[in-house]
Amino acid sequence: MQEDLERILFDEATIHHRLDELAEKISHDYRDRELTVIAILNGSVILMADLLRRIPLPLKLDCLSVASYHGGTKTTGELIFRQVSLPDIAGRHVLLLDDILDSGVTLATIREKIETADPQSIRICVLLEKKKTRLRQVDADYVGFQIADEFVVGYGLDYMERYRNLPCIGVLRKDLIAASA
Ligand code: IMP
Ligand code: MG
Repeated sequence: MQEDLERILFDEATIHHRLDELAEKISHDYRDRELTVIAILNGSVILMADLLRRIPLPLKLDCLSVASYHGGTKTTGELIFRQVSLPDIAGRHVLLLDDILDSGVTLATIREKIETADPQSIRICVLLEKKKTRLRQVDADYVGFQIADEFVVGYGLDYMERYRNLPCIGVLRKDLIAASA
């Protein structure tokens, strides 16, 4: 699979080192509060497993399943909620977890929906943040790495559902991206 990458951006050791730092900051910020983590499937599963095991706090975990891509590399701007009912988060401190902040459509839409359930606070944690102009304004509170506006795969991130199990993150070779994407 690694031969499908144009270049590696972050190897496994670099990602794990950064997760140590992020987990320490999150653990410190939430030391007196009970956290509810909402992980956005499927992209954040690897991050969720590796990050949450580094946070020694009492916390609840829920997952939300959405789709916006329909297999290409560009967002359609429209979000489909596959899991309709939201977890009970009234009065709770919610940390949304996603793989990447790209156009902002996913996190802005989910944030709006979560707000209607009356949580005490909402913060956002993403492993990657693309430096670009977003369709929707969203600020992440915890960011693993900032990257250029390139299509990346690995460590949970997919192209047509492939490459999620790559332990590193890299830029996918352009010749492998379908012309219609
Ligand atoms: P947004 O709604 O455009 O911010 O995109 C968020 C979702 O699009 C992420 O959760 C990913 O599933 C997907 N996505 C955005 N950029 C990439 C990328 O470079 N590689 C793989 N998936 C991506
Ligand atoms: Mg995806």
